[in-house]
Amino acid sequence: MHFFNFLATVLAASAVSAHPGADIEAEILETREQISQLEHRNLDHCTEILKRDGVFQRGIERRMATFERLRAERYLNGLAPRADPINTSHKSNKPYTLNTLASTIFASNTSCLLSPEVTEGPYYVTGEYIRSDLVENQPGVKLHLDILVLDTTTCKPVPNVFVEIWQTNSTGVYSGVVANGNGNFADKTNNKKSWLRGAQKTSADGVVEFGTIFPGHYTGRTTHIHTLVHTNAAAAQNNGTLIDTGASHVGQFFFDQSLITIVERTSPYTSNKQTLTTNAQDGILKEQSKVGDPFINYVFLAGGDSVSAGLLGWISFGINPKLSKTVKAATKFTGN
Ligand SMILES: *[C@@H]1O[C@H](CO)[C@@H](O)[C@H](O)[C@H]1NC(C)=O
Ligand SMILES: *[C@@H]1O[C@H](CO)[C@@H](O)[C@H](O)[C@H]1NC(C)=O
Ligand SMILES: *[C@@H]1O[C@H](CO)[C@@H](O)[C@H](O)[C@H]1NC(C)=O
Ligand SMILES: *[C@@H]1O[C@H](CO)[C@@H](O)[C@H](O)[C@H]1NC(C)=O
Repeated sequence: MHFFNFLATVLAASAVSAHPGADIEAEILETREQISQLEHRNLDHCTEILKRDGVFQRGIERRMATFERLRAERYLNGLAPRADPINTSHKSNKPYTLNTLASTIFASNTSCLLSPEVTEGPYYVTGEYIRSDLVENQPGVKLHLDILVLDTTTCKPVPNVFVEIWQTNSTGVYSGVVANGNGNFADKTNNKKSWLRGAQKTSADGVVEFGTIFPGHYTGRTTHIHTLVHTNAAAAQNNGTLIDTGASHVGQFFFDQSLITIVERTSPYTSNKQTLTTNAQDGILKEQSKVGDPFINYVFLAGGDSVSAGLLGWISFGINPKLSKTVKAATKFTGN
């Protein structure tokens, strides 16, 4: 007889006999009689089998994991509640002097997931150049971006995929699209422009770097940079452009409000007359912040809080290379 059958038998016996007014002595005798008939009186014989089958070990691990999880849920594990990234500084918090070890400054990182659910927005243009320097002639605070792409299913860097970015110039206008609400609608030449747009293939270590400028704000959105990941290597054209509206992962990068404020005090950002939307007011940022930290970490190259020499920014994000969707391009770039 198995342990559980044994239990059931005992429980059944108590159920019928253990009621008020019953003869306790008789019940004891009855129970003793039942037990004497059992083939196994306890679980001792199972010990070796349970050990062999890993049941004990899994039990220990499971309870340990539950213990850790319950403590973490109650913030008893030494870690603070997850901070809202919107309220968190992404400036490298290491004192920055000429003697500061680079390895100290660049240890900090944030990470976000790029999911196909985040919008590409209305100003995506396909057919842009594969290049690292996107500035062309746009004035503004120089921003060098270091982007690391990780595979969320393996936690390894993702080599040989195209990371594409596009953003506004310092006064909040996108190149490449003539649209109401995007700069001067009457200026039809904007269709032929490709500044602040481009793609790069990730290195063996899953990294791309871009030279760009800090984007300006435009009405209705906080300051951001759009990004897509194209896993289709064949999308690269012979003329050095990338044409792909498929197999893409979509996301946006954001900047600390304090950094936006510093940049916006400088020219030509000061000439931007569009309404400023803050991070705290931006619905898309709020959604992305629920699952990750889509903020760019940064350091002022000149030290202090001076943008005179520009910024170095960095971010890691995860993609699932097996996910894909079709993005909507406003138009295709066909040359200047
Ligand atoms: C953090 O965010 C909340 C709401 O988004 C805001 O009310 C609060 O002032 C923020 N705190 C700081 C320190 O920025
Ligand atoms: C980010 O940094 C923290 C601490 O410095 C480290 O534990 C974590 O693994 C890093 N995350 C990534 C994705 O590199
Ligand atoms: C941003 O781009 C628009 C459209 O080309 C242009 O009119 C504006 O002058 C640019 N901003 C700056 C600061 O050059
Ligand atoms: C690059 O080549 C493709 C065809 O291979 C063409 O569709 C596209 O317009 C070209 N782009 C430019 C900028 O010349």
